[in-house]
Amino acid sequence: MNFDERTLTDAVLARMDGCEDARFVTIMTSLVRHLHDFVREVELTEAEWMEGIRFLTATGQKCDDKRQEFILLSDTLGVSMLVDAINHRFAKGVTETTVFGPFFVEGAPHVAQWADIRGGAKGAPCFVSGTVRDIDGAPVADAVIDVWQSDGEEGFYDVQKPGAEPYCRAKIHTDASGRFGFLTVKPISYPVPTDGPVGGMLLTMGRHPYRPAHIHTMIQGEGFAPLTTHLFVAGDKYLDSDAVFGVKDSLVVDFVTNPAGRAPDGSTMNEPFVTATYDFVLARA
Ligand code: BEZ
Ligand code: FE
Repeated sequence: MNFDERTLTDAVLARMDGCEDARFVTIMTSLVRHLHDFVREVELTEAEWMEGIRFLTATGQKCDDKRQEFILLSDTLGVSMLVDAINHRFAKGVTETTVFGPFFVEGAPHVAQWADIRGGAKGAPCFVSGTVRDIDGAPVADAVIDVWQSDGEEGFYDVQKPGAEPYCRAKIHTDASGRFGFLTVKPISYPVPTDGPVGGMLLTMGRHPYRPAHIHTMIQGEGFAPLTTHLFVAGDKYLDSDAVFGVKDSLVVDFVTNPAGRAPDGSTMNEPFVTATYDFVLARA
């Protein structure tokens, strides 16, 4: 009773005395404390509180089975990368992780080495290859690399285009030497979806919505921790200002343009093509 600005926080926390889930108490105690401190610190007005409620309501209403506006909110506020960092404290030398993003689709086809995964996507042909190894340099055979990315001309994922056939998605297996290779298109930078409340938030914050060009990879090897990361295109103008704070120097790769001629898969290309190589290192599970 008679709670005031100072005593209300402890009163709310005391109401959890009957909670039997210790982790839940830890999380809610911290959340309530930080939330109350935030309200006190900024001296939130009633109009601002209402605007916050409106924003969160609109964020929920924008979500459906294909669109997750709350994850986008988490991404653009840096929370996703913070959770990622806390949960993947791998040893030095292990490939760094980055944000998962909303455009992964379960069930991409398993393809052979050097498969063409473009599926009709436009963009410069791009051969991506490399190895998957453990921290001691031993090859990881039969690791499965899930790959997904946007096209190389408009910057859209297939799932962003109603009715489009799947493109630039595949599961590639490493060979006995831990090697992999595939043919895709060179990705370009693209904006995160801006037609919802998060887009409005970015605009009001004075931020652009772009992500630097990248290829998503998720690697699973028997006995190893799964690795979700990106390969970023060196030289992209958004590397220093990724809308979701996902860039790490160690993930920036040279995508080299080559003249027409012999390609890494042994074929002959009669147009210029791009090559990129990367050697992934997995942590033991
Ligand atoms: C993506 O890279 O696909 C992505 C990540 C976070 C938010 C939006 C898009
Ligand atoms: Fe992406």
